[in-house]
Amino acid sequence: MKIALASDHRGFEFKNLIAGYLAKIGHETVDFGTKNGNDSVDYTDFGLLAAKSVGSGECERAILVCGTGLGMSLIANKVKGVRATVCHDLFTVEMSRRHNDANVLCLGADVVNHELLEQKIKLFVDTPFEGGRHARRVGKIMDAESS
Ligand code: RB5
Repeated sequence: MKIALASDHRGFEFKNLIAGYLAKIGHETVDFGTKNGNDSVDYTDFGLLAAKSVGSGECERAILVCGTGLGMSLIANKVKGVRATVCHDLFTVEMSRRHNDANVLCLGADVVNHELLEQKIKLFVDTPFEGGRHARRVGKIMDAESS
């Protein structure tokens, strides 16, 4: 799977850990920045680039990291075709895929447990969408983009 990555300064170290883990389990990543380490930047700039790559189909999924995950989800959900969710635990990551068909995972580097990071990434990548009644609901979310 081709996965877009982006972070601000708060999420920079997590982004690098995630890139390393995704490579280890055989996925391709595209790093949309920041590439300036801990220098303060606006999460909006990098989150938008990565989210647009999902909206356009260039990347299948994206993982975005800022301090809380909240700003990243707000900017990502402005992009047509994106379903971004903030998940702070394994259960919500799994359900974001099973029920919401989330294609963008937003993590908060100041919130999520370091030790569970790899499990969260694996769940986001491997968990299928259940479809069925959930497809109808996700369809309504997508319809709301043009309302
Ligand atoms: C940056 O200070 C912080 O606001 C950002 O990382 C994120 O948490 C925003 O939602």
